Amino acid sequence: MPQEQHDQNVLDINNLHTGFLIDGELHHAVVDVNLSVKPKEVVCVVGESGCGKSVMSLSIMNLLPKINSKISKGEIIFNGEDLTQKTDEEMNKVRGKDISMIFQEPMTALNPVFTVGSQLQEVLFNHTDMSKQEARERGIDLLKQVGIPRPEKIIDEYPHQLSGGMRQRIMIAISIALNPKLLIADEPTTALDVTVQAQILELMKAIQEKEDMAIMLITHDLGVVAEMADKVIVMYAGKIVETANVVDLFTEPKHPYTKSMISSIPRMDEQKNKLNTIDGIVPSLKNMPHVGCRFADRCPKAFDDCTKITPQLAKVSDDHEARCLLYDACYPDTSSIEKEEVNQ
Ligand SMILES: Nc1ncnc2c1ncn2[C@@H]1O[C@H](COP(=O)(O)OP(=O)(O)O)[C@@H](O)[C@H]1O
Ligand SMILES: [Mg+2]
Repeated sequence: MPQEQHDQNVLDINNLHTGFLIDGELHHAVVDVNLSVKPKEVVCVVGESGCGKSVMSLSIMNLLPKINSKISKGEIIFNGEDLTQKTDEEMNKVRGKDISMIFQEPMTALNPVFTVGSQLQEVLFNHTDMSKQEARERGIDLLKQVGIPRPEKIIDEYPHQLSGGMRQRIMIAISIALNPKLLIADEPTTALDVTVQAQILELMKAIQEKEDMAIMLITHDLGVVAEMADKVIVMYAGKIVETANVVDLFTEPKHPYTKSMISSIPRMDEQKNKLNTIDGIVPSLKNMPHVGCRFADRCPKAFDDCTKITPQLAKVSDDHEARCLLYDACYPDTSSIEKEEVNQ
């Protein structure tokens, strides 16, 4: 991308809808997602398990199972191009190079029968014309960069010889090998113990700052969000329910879902036998309510309209959006529908 476009967004997702075919019907796991990532920005996507975070990120990478899933609407603009229109071959060129992704369980992403070095080299060989020797040197360099001790030795080891934290460092090394503009990290520390989790987050932050890279960090953990985010996207049941910068989100959360999540963060100064959790569960795709707010049945603030009127995401204060009928702006905007009809 030319330098003069530097202030342009790295990623723009517009009106994304992604669904799965279940019993012959398309059920959406991601509905009307709009978001943007600026250069060097860390955007955290947070929500409980089953809210559509992974489906959203796999949509960006075009990695969803073709057999039963479909992006039915919307666009994903990266480097000025719509990724949803790209062929598999074209996406292969983007993946690992311009956008890379790391997952929760590095053991499943790393191939157990190949050494660390050959997996690092693979991404270098696929996208550059480096020689074997150059790739090995670059590999050792990358291992150093992610804080792997004795990289000259580790490069010849197999994933199973390493700890979970080390494996995730290797995944990070692979993911930054080609200086991507965007790293998508889907629950990268969830499988790790707390100390290692903190080290990996610190490493990601350091690399992001040094390498001029944007990160979309997906997590169910608001502690991770507080640590890492510039901007936060809260998802519930496939929809964005709140977006704000990290300070506003924690100091002035707007959506009752966000408030409930914040109040269920365990606190050091409270003696409790039981963790606070939000009562109820995220509806499954087949049980998604068709009208009203999807959180209504679990919401402590729900009132009559909440099951009858579908809220829209709207600006509720400066740079802060929510999707909740407690805010007048979130009532559906009928004037825009009328305008469309007039125009036809
Ligand atoms: N391959 C799939 N086939 C059918 N449904 C799926 C598939 N993957 C995810 N889902 C459904 O999509 C919804 C969102 O899932 P997911 O994006 O994995 O949630 P999250 O990452 O937020 O925990 C869930 O209801 C889940 O059951
Ligand atoms: Mg997930």
